[in-house]
Amino acid sequence: MSPAPGKKLIQLFSTEQISAAVARIASDMNRDYVGKNPLVIGVLKGCFIFLADLVRHLDFPVEVDFITLSSYGSGTQTSGNVCAISRVRTPIAGRDLIVVEDIVDSGVTLDFLLNSLRRKKPSSLRVCALLDKSSRRRVPVQIDYKGLDVPDKFLVGYGLDCDQQFRQLAGLWEIAEGCEE
Ligand code: IMP
Ligand code: MG
Repeated sequence: MSPAPGKKLIQLFSTEQISAAVARIASDMNRDYVGKNPLVIGVLKGCFIFLADLVRHLDFPVEVDFITLSSYGSGTQTSGNVCAISRVRTPIAGRDLIVVEDIVDSGVTLDFLLNSLRRKKPSSLRVCALLDKSSRRRVPVQIDYKGLDVPDKFLVGYGLDCDQQFRQLAGLWEIAEGCEE
């Protein structure tokens, strides 16, 4: 298969490096959530592979729900406007929440989500992000469980897309000529 016709992709992280990061996050969560039953909220679509891998390492009971947020058009820059395309249906008040994101870039999306979840009075709220592109941060956000620091490049694979393509790639890749061409 040629999953990226016409695009030059440069591998940043192998499947082994990603698996090690996921296992490390899970072991930190296994230490922190003993005897609890948190609600894991995945931010679609980018989280779907990471979340699926992560929850299979957890040895405490979890519920899983999803929210679909969008702040990007078809390009690589955040528009600054976040909208919820679908919402969390599970009741949140009094629950321990773990938000699972693929990547935190400007922080705008996560800040919007955390503010809206806090208004629903969870008993705790933590953030897990596989990737942290901290050099691009515009809004400060705390990441409680972080996988890998990444440079200011546009990344695809392991759930992350460029115009809805490349999510299925194993490993994490940089698109050399950007996302729009
Ligand atoms: P933020 O609001 O700028 O932090 O953007 C967060 C969202 O933008 C992430 O959850 C991703 O869905 C998307 N995003 C940010 N950087 C990348 C990237 O390098 N590749 C693919 N998606 C990205
Ligand atoms: Mg995301």
